[in-house]
Amino acid sequence: MFTTTRNSDTAPPPQGEHETTGVAAKEKVTGVGTWFLRNIWYYAVPGKKLRPGQMVAKTILGEPILIGRDRTGKPFALKDICPHQAVPLSKGRFDGCEVECCFHGWRFDTAGICTAIPSLASGQDLKICNIKTQSYPCTEHQGCVWVFMGDRTDSLPDVPCAPGLEGVSYDQSTVTLLIPTHIDYATAALIDPAHVPYVHNAWWWRSTRNMREKVKRYVPEGNGWTMVRHQPSKHSIAFQLLGNHIETEISFRLPGIRREYLTFGGRTFLSGMSTLTPIDETHTELNHTTFWTVRGLAPVLTPVINYFVREFLGQDQRIARMQEIGLRCDPNLIMTIKDAGTPGHWYFLCKKEWALATSEGREFVNPIKESILRWRS
Ligand code: FES
Ligand SMILES: [Fe+2]
Repeated sequence: MFTTTRNSDTAPPPQGEHETTGVAAKEKVTGVGTWFLRNIWYYAVPGKKLRPGQMVAKTILGEPILIGRDRTGKPFALKDICPHQAVPLSKGRFDGCEVECCFHGWRFDTAGICTAIPSLASGQDLKICNIKTQSYPCTEHQGCVWVFMGDRTDSLPDVPCAPGLEGVSYDQSTVTLLIPTHIDYATAALIDPAHVPYVHNAWWWRSTRNMREKVKRYVPEGNGWTMVRHQPSKHSIAFQLLGNHIETEISFRLPGIRREYLTFGGRTFLSGMSTLTPIDETHTELNHTTFWTVRGLAPVLTPVINYFVREFLGQDQRIARMQEIGLRCDPNLIMTIKDAGTPGHWYFLCKKEWALATSEGREFVNPIKESILRWRS
C-alpha cells in the first residue's frame, strides 16, 4: 500500500522508496493535497459559455483569472487584477477589443497591455504600454477553452483532447460541479474503480451485489496511461441494452483528465472527458464534457445526458463532501492499495515527473510500465 502524509511541501516531493512485498508495494508519497502542478494546460470554461465580447471571472490555482473572447472569436486570459489599484478587471466592461476597469477607466487590450489612462492630461507623458496585467496562454479545442498555468511558455505542451473524435462531427455538452477537496483527492477518486459499486449504485447503473473480479491491461501513453480497448462489463443496464458490439477505451492524462470513448461497430458514438481544475487548495472544479456523434438530436439528448451525468458526478461530489470532513483533521492515510489504487499511485508518479521534467527543462519520461491490474468492483 502507499501511505501519504499531508505535510507542508510546496515543491514537488522527492521520489519515494518503492518496496514490493508479495502483492503489495509500499510507497511514501509526501505532499499529497498540498501542491499544484504547473506548466500545464487546465480546463477553464466551455467554449459555448463564452460568446464574442464576453468575459468570465475564474480562480485557477488560487489565481484570479479573467477569461474572455474577443470580437473575432479568439479566447484570451488575463490576471484579473487591475495593476492600478487592484480592482478585478472582470468587474468592468469589455467591448470585444479592450477591457475597461470600472474604478478609473484604465483600458487593457487582450494581451494585457494598457492602452488608455483617461485621467492623463495633455503633456502628462506616461509610457502606458509599459503597464500591463499578466496574460496567460489560452486556446480553444473541441469547444473547450484551456489556460496554460506556468512560466515555461516558450514551448507549450499539446492541448488535451477528448479521444475518438478525429474526423467525426459531433455535438457536446458540459456539466460543471464543485468538488470540495484538493485536486489530488479529486483525481484519485476520479480514476479509482473500487468506489464505483458503492458510490455509483443507482438502478440504472449498478450495485454492490454484482461485484466481480476485473482484469485490465494498461499501457503508458502521453503524460498518463490508457486502459486498452475492451468490451465494457455488463454490470450496468445501459451496457446490457447496447449488446456486444460496444467497445470502450479509458485513459488518463495530467493534470487530472479522465477520458473515455465508446465505439459501436468500430465507430465512436460517445466520448467523455472529465477535467479537474484546482480553484484553490481545498476546492476543485470538475467539468465533464460529453460528445456524441449522432447529429440533429441535441435538443433531446442534451437534457437527458446532462441529467445522468449530473446524477452520476453528484454521487462523487457527495462522497467528496464527506471526505472533506475527515481531511480537516489532517490524517495519515493509506491512500492507494494495489491493484485498485494503482492508477492513483501512477497519478502521483506522473505528477512528480512532470514537475521535475519541466523544472529541469527536459522531456517528460513516462514513469509507468505496461501492466495488468486486477481488482474486484
Ligand atoms: S483600479 Fe483599475 S483603473 Fe484604477
Ligand atoms: Fe466516481
